Amino acid sequence: MQIQLSTTLAVVIILQFLCSWACTPNERRALLSLKAGLTDRRGRLASWEGNGDCCTWKGIRCAQRYNVTHVTELNLRNPNPHLLLRRPNGKLLALTDDSWDLSGTISLLLFSGVKYLEYLDLSCNNFHHSMIPDQLGDLLGLKYLNLSNAGFSGAIPNQMSNLSSLRTLDLSCSFLVDDKSSISVNLSTYKIIHDYPYSYVSSGLLLSHGLLWLERLTELRFLALNGVDLSIASSAKGKD
Ligand SMILES: *[C@@H]1O[C@H](CO)[C@@H](O)[C@H](O)[C@H]1NC(C)=O
Ligand SMILES: *[C@@H]1O[C@H](CO)[C@@H](O)[C@H](O)[C@H]1NC(C)=O
Ligand SMILES: *[C@@H]1O[C@H](CO)[C@@H](O)[C@H](O)[C@H]1NC(C)=O
Ligand SMILES: *[C@@H]1O[C@H](CO)[C@@H](O)[C@H](O)[C@H]1NC(C)=O
Repeated sequence: MQIQLSTTLAVVIILQFLCSWACTPNERRALLSLKAGLTDRRGRLASWEGNGDCCTWKGIRCAQRYNVTHVTELNLRNPNPHLLLRRPNGKLLALTDDSWDLSGTISLLLFSGVKYLEYLDLSCNNFHHSMIPDQLGDLLGLKYLNLSNAGFSGAIPNQMSNLSSLRTLDLSCSFLVDDKSSISVNLSTYKIIHDYPYSYVSSGLLLSHGLLWLERLTELRFLALNGVDLSIASSAKGKD
């Protein structure tokens, strides 16, 4: 039994060696260039360094595609997103600090380097009102894309219509806050009535001139555009 087990182990190790279980140098370079453009105060990308296998870096997953190991998943979702409270005077109070944000702009080298990406989550970081890069449309294998509340602004690029494998798309730029600004009291019971316990706060200024780009996303099963300005798209002037 033990001999069988160690033989199996040896076979697995040899197979792994033959398949060269590591990301490609191009992919490693692309990820390092993404990191170089970002401020990372909490060291969330500390494991992203050196010439090693980038499949072992935090937030990265790899899989075999056409017999070669490629980066297929990039998950940089903020683990401690902002929590806000609307105070009785109507002003917003931050209950968390923003030090967990990755902030900066996205290196365009990323999109030419990680061609096999299927899952991309950059949500709740801070991309300083930059536009969503047109080159995102080059990641033709994307099935999951989450850019929600990441501080993107401007028009959603038409190139998104190329992402025809997308099943889940979340571009929301507005989030729910605990709202204590309207409290009333029931004078017969003296109980506090919390009429509007939540309200929305915008976290970016995304807009879409039209919705034709959505028509080509035929695999889409989930779409969130909370807070995205669709006023032009829904008016008679809307066009693509
Ligand atoms: C993957 O490798 C196997 C065995 O070497 C080969 O038979 C197969 O055709 C390869 N597949 C692709 C898509 O290259
Ligand atoms: C996108 O990310 C946010 C958190 O950052 C999460 O709450 C939301 O559910 C995600 N959207 C989808 C469709 O998975
Ligand atoms: C992607 O979209 C652009 C503009 O919408 C188009 O010019 C280009 O040919 C498309 N590329 C692919 C691979 O479909
Ligand atoms: C105030 O409390 C009374 C007694 O429970 C209830 O009948 C009434 O509907 C309440 N009024 C409001 C505005 O909630």
